[in-house]
Amino acid sequence: MEEVDFGTYHHSTPEESAQARKEFKKIFSKAFEKSGIAPDSEINILDIGSGLGFLSYITANYFGNSKITGIDIFDNENLKGSSLEKARHNMEILKLSDRVKFLNVDILSSDNIDQEFDFSVSNLVLHNLGRKRFKAYENIYGLLKNGGFFLNGDIFINTSISNKFNSDIRKISNIFSVNCNIVMAKTDGLPNYRLVCLEKI
Ligand SMILES: C[S@@+](CC[C@H](N)C(=O)[O-])C[C@H]1O[C@@H](n2cnc3c(N)ncnc32)[C@H](O)[C@@H]1O
Repeated sequence: MEEVDFGTYHHSTPEESAQARKEFKKIFSKAFEKSGIAPDSEINILDIGSGLGFLSYITANYFGNSKITGIDIFDNENLKGSSLEKARHNMEILKLSDRVKFLNVDILSSDNIDQEFDFSVSNLVLHNLGRKRFKAYENIYGLLKNGGFFLNGDIFINTSISNKFNSDIRKISNIFSVNCNIVMAKTDGLPNYRLVCLEKI
């Protein structure tokens, strides 16, 4: 079978990226279990900054009857060699093209997504948006059904004056509440990574 290529993360080697993905798979699977949603549910899931489809694949595998929409701007700075065509090709190799679709859409201007989702996932995306991440949180809120949630795996770097994770959570506390907070064991390349489950208020 042709090899799937999920790309190499910024500041990382192909080997380190592959190692990190093993950890991400574990932590997202644990969060899916904790969500209480039956793995055979027919649900619609949004993957924000889906890149070459790594998290869409993990999610589609766990929720075997789900439909996944991955959105990305295919910015090669954060994922070397990424493209919409390559992401689609990965799903063809994995025989998931009927359930996983990718769109070239910016989460900062997501008005053209005419759908609401049961929940949303994202990995290593929002920290790159600077203060615009708060606009992204708002847009994600708007794309979720009532009772929906956002599983966000990301890097929250503490500075000497602030704890980024707590300060972000405070700033979005009018739209999301923290439902579960699973902290991944530190890996060499990825200090300060957390997966947080944000529930739509
Ligand atoms: C580090 S990669 C992670 C890709 C994928 N989530 C994974 O875990 O393999 C970050 C991705 O976010 C995408 N991205 C950055 N800014 C974005 C935006 N405003 N809207 C949608 N995607 C964005 C990048 O193009 C890149 O594919």
